[in-house]
Amino acid sequence: MLLLRRCLSLTGAAPSNCHRHLLMPAVCAARLWSSSSSGGRGDGGDDQRTYQNSHGSSWIHGLAGLLAGTGAVLAYGLHQHKPQRADSSRRQPTEQTSPLPVFSQVEVTKHRSLEDGVWVTYKGGVYDITEFVNKHPGGDKIMLAAGGAIEPFWAMYAVHNQEHVLEILSEYKVGELRAEDQKKQDAVKSSDPYSTDPERHPVLHINNLKPFNAEPPPELLSDSYITPSAIFFKRNHLPVPQVDPATYRLHVEGLPAGVLTLSLEDLKTKFPKHTITATLQCAGNRRSEMNKVKQVKGLNWGIAAISNATWSGAKLRDVLLAAGYSPDVAQWARHVQFDGMDKDVTGSSYGASIPLNKAVSEDGDVLLAYEMNGEDIPADHGFPVRVVVPGTVGARNVKWLGRIIVSSEESSSHWQQNDYKGFSPGTDWDTVDFKSAPSIQELPIQSAITTPAEGAVIDRSEEEVTVEGYAWSGGGREVVRVDVSLDGGKTWRVAQLRTSDRGQEPQPSPPPGRAWAWKLWEVTVPIPPETQELEIICKAVDDSYNTQPDTVAPIWNLRGVLSNAWHRVKVKITEDEDEE
Ligand code: MTE
Repeated sequence: MLLLRRCLSLTGAAPSNCHRHLLMPAVCAARLWSSSSSGGRGDGGDDQRTYQNSHGSSWIHGLAGLLAGTGAVLAYGLHQHKPQRADSSRRQPTEQTSPLPVFSQVEVTKHRSLEDGVWVTYKGGVYDITEFVNKHPGGDKIMLAAGGAIEPFWAMYAVHNQEHVLEILSEYKVGELRAEDQKKQDAVKSSDPYSTDPERHPVLHINNLKPFNAEPPPELLSDSYITPSAIFFKRNHLPVPQVDPATYRLHVEGLPAGVLTLSLEDLKTKFPKHTITATLQCAGNRRSEMNKVKQVKGLNWGIAAISNATWSGAKLRDVLLAAGYSPDVAQWARHVQFDGMDKDVTGSSYGASIPLNKAVSEDGDVLLAYEMNGEDIPADHGFPVRVVVPGTVGARNVKWLGRIIVSSEESSSHWQQNDYKGFSPGTDWDTVDFKSAPSIQELPIQSAITTPAEGAVIDRSEEEVTVEGYAWSGGGREVVRVDVSLDGGKTWRVAQLRTSDRGQEPQPSPPPGRAWAWKLWEVTVPIPPETQELEIICKAVDDSYNTQPDTVAPIWNLRGVLSNAWHRVKVKITEDEDEE
């Protein structure tokens, strides 16, 4: 197989560093999208095709799931798989010219296990990915694709439809699929699982189109204390599910009293409605700064994967009490798990969990929210119900909530077990052991400069510069100070904090330990004389006197999460020529 793999590749010559790029599929994809996203959604095309295989519909479904996993596998495995091509003149194989053997679909289907080999097909090629299976970060999910086509998975995880991933796949090529079997595959067009995603505001900076991930322009963030829902950052792992509010049901499981099932109406009428203002921040916010130190794997978020909204709904505590929760339960239960209604091609849903203490605490303020900024929660943000876990990383704020499970265990989902964890800068993809690190829950102190922007040009005749930004800390810790420097950290000024829009009454101070919302800040400073460039820095301090680390390198980690070093922006000062 190795020999065969060396024979041909699927695509043309790739840059020698392409394997390293494959480690960052989302980053690469972001570039792709930014060049192709002007028309909104992608148009599917060849990569969105599926096929009628010889194993019936359940197999098609399974294949679809497999391929999604395979894409991730491929992306992950690229750095480990050392290409050993003997043939430098790679070419596009065709059945007529390829020296590789031709296999029937039936033959491919026999390879669905590690013992028999794991084969997949892609656009008429047959690939033996057996060696790749154990490198799959998504675990054995990749086996769902064994013996069938990869295209349905890539329709779901369109991020993999890029040259680098194809280049990796090409290394595993062992043959061609028989022409008539290929025609059968082509005959069935897949539907785009993202075709029902909602419309989005054009001002958003798209990091990835399918699934949709986008952030607002930074200067808009500090324009309003409450982020308008349309520009609130959006972080989806899967297509947005379409949920009918009339038939929506929430199941609460794991308590001795049995399953409690609630309709949306039940949630709205049987429990008191609570409203909180809370900031959500993605664990990957400011990941792009880590990428500058050393490339990480993940979407290349700027400083705006964070937003602030009002959320209204029933308290999770009240719902758990109604479902039979009592202090006895805390003898054995430790976690509350949440399942979303967004599903991948294998039928698995997004899931996450939080500690039981947070869920049942009166002061935890965990909401089963059905309103965002005074309206029904928009589709992108979890309509009709999402969990809002204030002070906790965005990943645990599960959208399109379908199931709550009180358990002795954390959620078994990929996103709880094998993602959203922090590691040492010395840990790489060869040494990482996801089980060794706790899941991220409360986030550390954070702040960033929203204006001026990096590279902005300021005329000296303006005499002063106004610097603005946001600051927030996890776990309900209140931001008590933001320090700003215009000279790279030699001297500092204290910024003015605000908890409302300019000219509005400030929000009342939150009770200690329940500061869920960010503070916006600003400071106006004279432009230092004889300077052509300013390095503006901000750092925040919370009420536990936690502050931000000064540089990124010591907190760098392979997934680029928890990026909260001092934020630095360089601006240029130009001289007013009329005055000279
Ligand atoms: N819930 C579901 N069901 N599916 C998801 O993909 N993404 C999580 C979380 N909840 C996600 C989810 C992540 S990683 C983040 S950062 C937040 O939702 C983002 O919430 P937002 O899109 O409302 O900003």
